[in-house]
Amino acid sequence: MKTSPFIITPNDLGSKDFTSLKGYIQNHLDEINQQILNRGAVLFRGFDILQAIDFENIAQTIDDKLKNDYLGTSPRNIIEGTQYVFSASELPSYYPIMQHCEMSFLPTAPRRIMFYCHKAPQFGGETPICDFRQVAKNLNPDIKKELSQKKLKLIRNYCAPGQEKNNSFQLKPWVDMFQTREKSVVEQKCAANQIQVEWLENDALRLLSYHDAFKIHPVTHQEVWFNHIQVFHSSAAAIEYSKIVRRQKTFDAWKVNAYLQLITFIKRYTENPIERAMHITYADGKEIPISYVQHIQDLIWQSMYFLKWEKGDVIVLDNFSTSHGRMPYKGPREIYVSWTS
Ligand SMILES: [Fe+2]
Repeated sequence: MKTSPFIITPNDLGSKDFTSLKGYIQNHLDEINQQILNRGAVLFRGFDILQAIDFENIAQTIDDKLKNDYLGTSPRNIIEGTQYVFSASELPSYYPIMQHCEMSFLPTAPRRIMFYCHKAPQFGGETPICDFRQVAKNLNPDIKKELSQKKLKLIRNYCAPGQEKNNSFQLKPWVDMFQTREKSVVEQKCAANQIQVEWLENDALRLLSYHDAFKIHPVTHQEVWFNHIQVFHSSAAAIEYSKIVRRQKTFDAWKVNAYLQLITFIKRYTENPIERAMHITYADGKEIPISYVQHIQDLIWQSMYFLKWEKGDVIVLDNFSTSHGRMPYKGPREIYVSWTS
């Protein structure tokens, strides 16, 4: 079954005015919350939400527990004049962002994540979303059993300050990730999030953490696919791009795809898995078969809804049931993000 957001438009309240929308949300909050739970996503389309500050205001009206601490892997910048609105990702436009529930690798992943379209892209740049309850349900039972029993180990390698390689498939430096140069602060933050820290030569940093593959939704008690295999597995980006190229059918996508397939193949035989920028294995360190990653990404793509942005769109996702990602794009694109506790 395809993921499908519940859509609210000016027709539902007889006005596209910002103040009317705010009043409507306040008066219909129970219904909206129910739709976020049921459908996993509610899209507000066609309203006068013109600036980041308007989005912040709407986000706070929907959920007053916004947060601004971020331990995810995307490079993100705060939007000036706001406290809780960030650029969704500063990753290069050709870079694929595979489906994920935000920070699913933290014990305190956000309940909700919201996106706002300040400037719609002209080509590509959709934010696909996917109901990860469907993925849990449709997963091959043998693979499901194996992943449930063996659990997962997440590997992340960060370079030291000033040692950045000119390679967008590397993670951002750890000083950016943790917003500090103090190793003791990094260690405290990691301990609070059940992440093991290994300091390497030249102040490089390796993070290791252990996870379940599934989560039970805290409110609906449904089983959810809740991990980052399809993001962090070293074959995931190449699998994703082979799908992107079939959707976008451009020479640029073809070039990136060819490069990714080649580099992924070479790295498979030359790189030590523990030294990869990102990788995910079974908890005992053994490799998850690539055919499993392919199966997972096939299921995700079967259920995905491609949100083609329009200026002013706001989408609210139940981060405990519904994932998001990003298609490569051309030209300007400004999508902002906020999240809750
Ligand atoms: Fe994200």
